[in-house]
Amino acid sequence: MGLTSASCLATKCDVLGFDTNAKKIEEVKLGKAPFFEPRLDDILDKVIKKGAFQTTSSYVDAVLGSNVTFICVDTPTDASGSSNLGYVESAASMIAESLEMKSSWHLVVVKSTVPPGTTSQIVKSILERGSKRLGVDFGLCMNPEFLREGSAVEDMLNPDRIIIGEADKKSGDNLEQLFREFYGEKLPPILRENLENAELIKYTNNAFLATKVSFANMIANLCEQIPGADVTHVMKGIGYDKRIGSQFLSAGVGWGGSCLPKDTRALVSTSKKLGCDLMLVRDAITINDERPRHMVKLAEEAVGGLNGKCVSLLGLSFKPKTDDIRNAPSLSIIKSLLELNARVSVYDPVAMENVQRIFGDKLTYCKTAFECLERSECCMLVTEWDEFKLLTPDDFLKRMNTPVLIDGRRIYDLKSFEHKIELRAIGLGQSRDAVK
Ligand code: UGA
Repeated sequence: MGLTSASCLATKCDVLGFDTNAKKIEEVKLGKAPFFEPRLDDILDKVIKKGAFQTTSSYVDAVLGSNVTFICVDTPTDASGSSNLGYVESAASMIAESLEMKSSWHLVVVKSTVPPGTTSQIVKSILERGSKRLGVDFGLCMNPEFLREGSAVEDMLNPDRIIIGEADKKSGDNLEQLFREFYGEKLPPILRENLENAELIKYTNNAFLATKVSFANMIANLCEQIPGADVTHVMKGIGYDKRIGSQFLSAGVGWGGSCLPKDTRALVSTSKKLGCDLMLVRDAITINDERPRHMVKLAEEAVGGLNGKCVSLLGLSFKPKTDDIRNAPSLSIIKSLLELNARVSVYDPVAMENVQRIFGDKLTYCKTAFECLERSECCMLVTEWDEFKLLTPDDFLKRMNTPVLIDGRRIYDLKSFEHKIELRAIGLGQSRDAVK
């Protein structure tokens, strides 16, 4: 989020990037993102070459050389699900120290996802530890981001809306002006809020998305028990209702990544401390936690036990167009398969190295999807990369020992696969013929 925002902003303003990780700074200086994100390298390379995006290894230089500082650090959850605000606190401390050397007004913007009250209480009090005062020497905003991995650049350039949580009017006016200049005629709706609402909007947004997907997954479980039922048809049917909307209704192996799992847990944990039980969000998490095991159960049933069987996994990243495997359902699926003593072959277009770092020589790492299918007794489609959508029934038939396919993302056309290979899928009831 930090690098994407910085690179995009640098197409219109001068940006100074600081990170405590010197290796990351070196990579960015070369115009290369330290992770895979479509379109990012192109923009980054251009703004670095143009000199619009400069990096520094001194946080003091970063603050003294700019008018606005965005805090974009991670807020991981601890074992209890609470947000660990250590990085936010240390970033605020660095800014506070630098502000002492600055005479002009400076705007600090929290972009990290933080529990309600964090900006107005923790960040503000750290910034005021020295002689500087909010409203006099510096301004403070909370500006949540809604970038998705895999389409972060597109989301940054064309956001649905911008939320500005502001400590005071001057702070909000300054940040709004920055966005007005950046987006020009493409300015999305801007909502000016207080800090707490802005913080809550971010959590609530992710919790709602997670709940929507879990709802589809809950109905998928029901569909599997009803001959002839198919969750993709049911969700398509309800998605046309404008009050529901068609997005985030794809049933599958569950939501992963660094955000939905972290933010739902943090919201539940924060609410619990406030004496409020977010039952619906808790259930959404429980439904999600069961998805990988459910996928393995479908495979076990289809094959008749996986002990000693050769299983191929197509797709490892938590979703397509990213190499991110944080909380990826593939990891839980692999663990279950290994516990069941299956032999596991894997393939992903970009996430292989990340998975190899975790599982080492316990898996067979393949160079292509075709290689992954060779001699397999069960194929599990876990991440819906475009290249997997092109696979035909023959591609499976030719290579697999026993052609059993478990479609965890509902990407295959049932009609073209029917009667050719054994296809089981998330949210698909048995065919009526099979029941007869
Ligand atoms: C999510 C939000 O969508 C962003 O708006 C937000 O800015 C970001 O978190 C964040 O907090 O930083 P992201 O984690 O990149 O973005 O991923 P999503 O596109 O939300 O997908 C999350 C998971 O849900 C993926 O595993 C995906 O496969 C799954 N999903 C999504 C489904 O299973 N079904 C769907 O219909 C949609």
